[in-house]
Amino acid sequence: MPDQAQIQQAADWIKASAKIAVLTGAGASKESGVPTFRDAMDGLWAKYNPEQLATPQAFQENPKLVWDWYEFRREMVRQANPNPGHLALAELERRYPTMRVITQNVDDLHERAGSKNVIHLHGNIAQSKCFFDCQGSPTLVDVSALVWDKTSGPPPCPNCGRWVRPDVVWFYEQLPTDQLDAAMAFGTVCDLMLVIGTSGLVTPAASLPGYAKQGGAKIIEVNPDHSMITRIADLKLTGTSAEILSRVVEALD
Ligand code: OAD
Repeated sequence: MPDQAQIQQAADWIKASAKIAVLTGAGASKESGVPTFRDAMDGLWAKYNPEQLATPQAFQENPKLVWDWYEFRREMVRQANPNPGHLALAELERRYPTMRVITQNVDDLHERAGSKNVIHLHGNIAQSKCFFDCQGSPTLVDVSALVWDKTSGPPPCPNCGRWVRPDVVWFYEQLPTDQLDAAMAFGTVCDLMLVIGTSGLVTPAASLPGYAKQGGAKIIEVNPDHSMITRIADLKLTGTSAEILSRVVEALD
């Protein structure tokens, strides 16, 4: 648990920064009840095999299995609420409107907490699109407007009749170019990057703190454990997103 001097250090660096970037990962949503991927006990990849659930090939081989797994996760996100960490980041953005959240999370908990400037590197689990992007990338499909036999898996695309899939980035896929470009553009010029709840194992997101640091930014990490980002962090606040970020925002006053 960080002492008050470390929390104050973080608050002072925030106050002294003109451009604040915040990179979040699954840990930021954990206290909302949305599991992380790699936590040993309850991470999704401890229970499920990503090769069977989160690759284009997996979907082509078993669209129903993959669709149903994402339906289960969608429902979990629908029932979740922003936690004090999300709320603290939204408050930070109100005070520093140039701040940008860059998230690897596919939930909308930052937005529901009040964050406006959110870059989604890995897509949005609430949305669906044509597997073949038949009308251009992305061909979003509003599945709530479709009627189909839900026990059979994903609905057919209303444009081409082929599959609809979740609008998330799977392994072996490119990130959405506009979101990645925006993250790179801001991440390389920010003066401070808060890195919250990510293992730092998945690139290109995991490269952003390194680019920020090369550009002269300070790095503050919030994570209860060690991560791949820890060694480049100028300040490591060991603890959870909800507890640490609330204290940092309090220390701004
Ligand atoms: P991981 O599951 O790899 O890492 C979660 C991190 O959150 C770990 O470092 C934990 O120590 C930390 N953590 C756990 N509880 C926390 C809490 N309450 N507050 C703060 N931190 C906490 O998740 P990501 O790094 O987000 O990609 O994973 C990156 C990508 O890998 C995901 O976006 C997903 C996955 O495969 C795709 O689906 C493309």
